[in-house]
Amino acid sequence: MASQDELKRRAAERAIELIEPGMKLGLGTGSTAAYFVELLGLRASKGLDVIGVPTSEATRLQCEQVGIRLTTLDDDPYLDMTVDGADELDGELRLIKGGGGALLREKIVASASERMVVLADDSKKVEMLGKYPLPVEVVEFGLGATRAIIEALASDAGCEGPITVRKIADGKPFRSDSGHLILDCAFGKIPEPELLAEALQMIPGVVEHGLFLQLADVAVIAGLNGVELLESPDLE
Ligand code: A5P
Repeated sequence: MASQDELKRRAAERAIELIEPGMKLGLGTGSTAAYFVELLGLRASKGLDVIGVPTSEATRLQCEQVGIRLTTLDDDPYLDMTVDGADELDGELRLIKGGGGALLREKIVASASERMVVLADDSKKVEMLGKYPLPVEVVEFGLGATRAIIEALASDAGCEGPITVRKIADGKPFRSDSGHLILDCAFGKIPEPELLAEALQMIPGVVEHGLFLQLADVAVIAGLNGVELLESPDLE
């Protein structure tokens, strides 16, 4: 039986078929995106001409190791396609992202892209978002107040549950590539993602949240019975 890692690799293999010479690509973060970057590097070494913007320092490092040419959003503000993983996705291709802590750069890069392709194994597909704790990137100043406002506004949007500061192994707070903290919001369910996103955007201490709404165009989902492509209802 195929492992979850094998399914992630199969999704990446299918996504490679969507890449055309000359494309400017956003390159995602996480274990699924890493399979894609590895395969893209192989293609690049055989002459495929693409250029990429990494969504994290970890992905930048991997791109350098596998020989993918890099650019920035300053030099190339419009990208053809971003390929990235997700922590959860629903039938409308609404996503939770940020499990790897890269949500801010991931959202900036995806928003600069004509299309966003999401890669996932089928365990990530859910009826309702929220089982995976929603990452919210916040500034350190005023953390207690920011957390309290998130709690109150989330409750108004039908979301309740513990909100914790993400820590690394030594117990210190995790810091994103931009130096911010991450609050993991274990809501269990997010009945109205748009309402919650709107509320979170209003909070000054919130830099960005991990709800990716109306960003994904296509999801490449790998399961034991094969790989399926799901299109966003917005494309119909
Ligand atoms: C990184 O911040 C995340 O958004 C990742 O895309 C997400 O955590 C998926 O990671 P895996 O591919 O490792 O499951």
